[in-house]
Parts: sequence; structure tokens; C-alpha cells
Amino acid sequence: MSDETRVQYEVGDGIALLTINRPDKLNALDGDTIETLDRLIEAAGEDPAVGVLIITGAGDKAFVAGADIRELSERTPLDGSAYARRGQAVFTRLETIGKPSIAAVNGYALGGGLELALACTLRIASDKARLGLPETTLGIIPGYGGTQRLSRLVGRGRALELIMTGEPIDAQEALKIGLVNRVVPPSDLLATARSLAGVMRLRGPVALRCALEAVHRGLEMSQSDGLALEAALFGLTCASEDMREGTRAFLEKRKPTFRGR
Ligand code: COA
Repeated sequence: MSDETRVQYEVGDGIALLTINRPDKLNALDGDTIETLDRLIEAAGEDPAVGVLIITGAGDKAFVAGADIRELSERTPLDGSAYARRGQAVFTRLETIGKPSIAAVNGYALGGGLELALACTLRIASDKARLGLPETTLGIIPGYGGTQRLSRLVGRGRALELIMTGEPIDAQEALKIGLVNRVVPPSDLLATARSLAGVMRLRGPVALRCALEAVHRGLEMSQSDGLALEAALFGLTCASEDMREGTRAFLEKRKPTFRGR
């Protein structure tokens, strides 16, 4: 474990576990927490021993209850916009790091907390989680990507309902609308996240990186441009050692050993 206090960081079995650690403030994201998170996401991205990231919150009440409202209350128009861009950059780093990430949502995922979960590749929620974008209750809008990623994930109608009412939903409702991938009892949450991470760990890292890029960048393009991107990335995977190993292992009836190149 690192000596960072705002976010705990552990690496084992190819998985980096990042635990947002401000339980007395329901893991609210203040500036220090955001900066620590950014450093650790970068470290996980660069560490060849890390194949998958899991992000969760300390304690049994919250994943992350949002951006720190005390800090927020002092924002001016100019620094408010810079603050939103900084948070967006950190979450975009997570989304584009080229390694899959799982949000293990162990309680409240509100505002910036839900936006952090939305920047992860997959979301698993405990059955006591509550998820929402309550920013309009504070007189602001989501500023860490929520208006963009939520509508792309669950569609305009559901996203607008969550944003315009500011009301959170429970884990089952989140599952129903595709906001989370799975719902499990709290005691199974980390084990489920680890098991899913373990499955992705077995896949070709070059393929995972290219698949993430094809899906994320493709969603910003027309379908024909997206198909061209897919074909180019498919070609790239065909140039990888992982592709030779994966196809050879199948033909030799053995499990592949991917090296991520
Ligand atoms: N920013 C700063 N502090 C926060 C916080 C946030 N987003 N969310 C919770 N906290 C703090 C509370 O101020 C409280 O601190 P205190 O003990 O020093 O008074 C502590 O965390 C515990 O929260 P509390 O409100 O007492 O817990 P609760 O169980 O009664 O309610 C919530 C839980 C999540 C419903 C409630 O804390 C809440 O609505 N939080 C804000 C959610 C939000 O609007 N997020 C979006 C921000 S953009």
C-alpha cells in the first residue's frame, strides 16, 4: 500500500485497487483527492504489472458522494470552469488509459462519484448503492462529464430524468437502465469486481486497448468513420505478438500467454 492517504493504492494479481479514502466525508472529491487519483491512475497506466484497475470507496456507506461541496461553494465563474476541466481531464485519463477499469460502487455514487464511475469501463454496484446526479439541487450542472457520459450510456431520456430531477436511483433501477453492469450483495462486491478483472486479465492486452479505443472514439464518429477506425485497429492487432500467440495457442489447444505487445 502506498503512503497516499486520500486514495489507497494496492497492486496484486495484475489488478490495481484504488480506494478513495475520506470516509468521514463520504469520500467526497476535494482537490487533493482528485490530484492523488490522477497520479495513481497515471501510475497504474504505466505499470506493466497492472492489467485492470478497480476503483472503490472506503467504508460501507459511500463510493463517492460527489465533488466536495465546501470547495465548490467558493468557486467563481472562471475557476469553476477550470475546475470542471481539470476533473474532466482526470476522468478522461482513466477512460483512455488503454486498460479496463471497474467501479465497485459500494454505496452512494452521487455527482462527481457517479461521473467517476461513468469514466470506468464497467460498473458493479452493491445492492445498497444509490446513484444519481444531484447537481441541480445545488444550482449547478454536472461538470465532470456527467451530461456527456450518462446520456451516451443510458440514452438521452433517462439521463435527462436523472439530471433534471437530481433524484438518485437504487442499484436495481440502475441495472434496469444499463447504468451498472451487475448488482451484488455488499459482501460480494470486491470479489465480483476481482473475478471480472481476472477474466479481462486473461485477454490480450493489445486487443483490450484497441477495443476500448474503437468503442470510445467510435462513439464520437459517424458509423462509417467508426467502421474505418475499427478496421485500422483490427489491422493493428494483427501486427501484434498477442495475435500470433492467441491464434497459435488456439490451434495448439493450449491457453495463450499474452505479453501485451
Ligand atoms: N462534499 C462535502 N462533504 C460531504 C459531501 C460532499 N459532496 N457529501 C457528504 N459530505 C459530508 C457531510 O457534510 C458530513 O460531514 P460532517 O460530518 O462534517 O457534517 C459527512 O460527509 C456525512 O454526510 P451526511 O450528510 O451527514 O450523511 P447522511 O447519511 O445524512 O447523507 C448523503 C448522505 C449522501 C445523502 C448526503 O451526504 C448528501 O446529500 N451529500 C451530498 C451529495 C451531493 O449533492 N453530491 C453532489 C456534489 S456536486
